Amino acid sequence: MRIVILCGGESPERDVSLASGSSVARALLERGHEVLLVDPAAGEPVLAGPLHPGDVVDGFEVGKEPPAGHERHGLRQRMAAAFDGGALPALLRDADLVFTALHGGWGEDGWVQERLEAAGVRFTGAGSTACAAAWNKERAQAVLAAAGVPVTERALWPAAADEVPKEVRPLVAAGPVVAKPVADGSSVSVHRADSLAELERLAPQMRADGGDLLVEPFLSGREFTVGVVGGQVLPVIEIELSTPLFDYAAKYQPGAVSEVCPARIPEEFASRLQQLALRAHEALGFGPHTYSRADFRCDAAGEPMCLEVNALPGLTATSLLPLGASGAGWTYADLAERIVSLATR
Ligand code: DAL
Ligand code: MG
Repeated sequence: MRIVILCGGESPERDVSLASGSSVARALLERGHEVLLVDPAAGEPVLAGPLHPGDVVDGFEVGKEPPAGHERHGLRQRMAAAFDGGALPALLRDADLVFTALHGGWGEDGWVQERLEAAGVRFTGAGSTACAAAWNKERAQAVLAAAGVPVTERALWPAAADEVPKEVRPLVAAGPVVAKPVADGSSVSVHRADSLAELERLAPQMRADGGDLLVEPFLSGREFTVGVVGGQVLPVIEIELSTPLFDYAAKYQPGAVSEVCPARIPEEFASRLQQLALRAHEALGFGPHTYSRADFRCDAAGEPMCLEVNALPGLTATSLLPLGASGAGWTYADLAERIVSLATR
């Protein structure tokens, strides 16, 4: 099959996506596919290709910090130009399948999926509607709560409000909170604040990109994540943290956390988490031919709360979805091939 892998893009998760894309490329080459690696935000969008079975793909490294706004300058304009009126849709239509390994922003909020749908190309993962539903954490949590998936209390601090809004104040008065951009991934700019003063001090850097902040009580319990691929729920992974939060640095610096799969938890609790992950996947409109990964953190009483559902979970060699897949006995290439076959069914 001739497969175009989309990676890179305009979001702070650009590096992660380049690493995901090159890992997917290696796996699909191993399975005999012809591969083209495309970064829609690069002026010259074809990063590599056509690659043939046996070709070696160099891996991209994920940097210590996400690329800053000024380093990403121009990427969004180039990505818009490539799709809207540019040559990219025709190049994508030439492929049998587009594998979307983009993360964050225009990769994961439905923007790119809308364009792929409009171009009439077949692509992996969820469509524009489910991506948009999952991307805004506050709106997604409302959908999840209505579907019976437990979520924490939360309040929004809109970008337009200079002062801490009155809805946020009781949360901070009740104890430590976690604040994060309402729509971003890989825990970019996620912080814990123990007081109103600290929240006010951290806010400007958290919304460097100008978005709203979501404020939630800090959950002091264990952290888990569960992948869903097609109709199959993968084994539960526990993230054992040595830092207070599973932030960007902890996610991408080898050895910063230990990720245990399958999690050492009672079977009953594991199957509850798996049921919740599947329910969350379905509630947000992820169809049976897509994949996702739901993140949970437990409160002090050990009750799991769903933090979010990732529409395009990381696929770097050390990412969580491949780890969950290995718990089900699949190699990385099995997972990549499974995602391809779900999309071409
Ligand atoms: N947002 C990153 C890629 C993840 O969910 O793994
Ligand atoms: Mg995420």
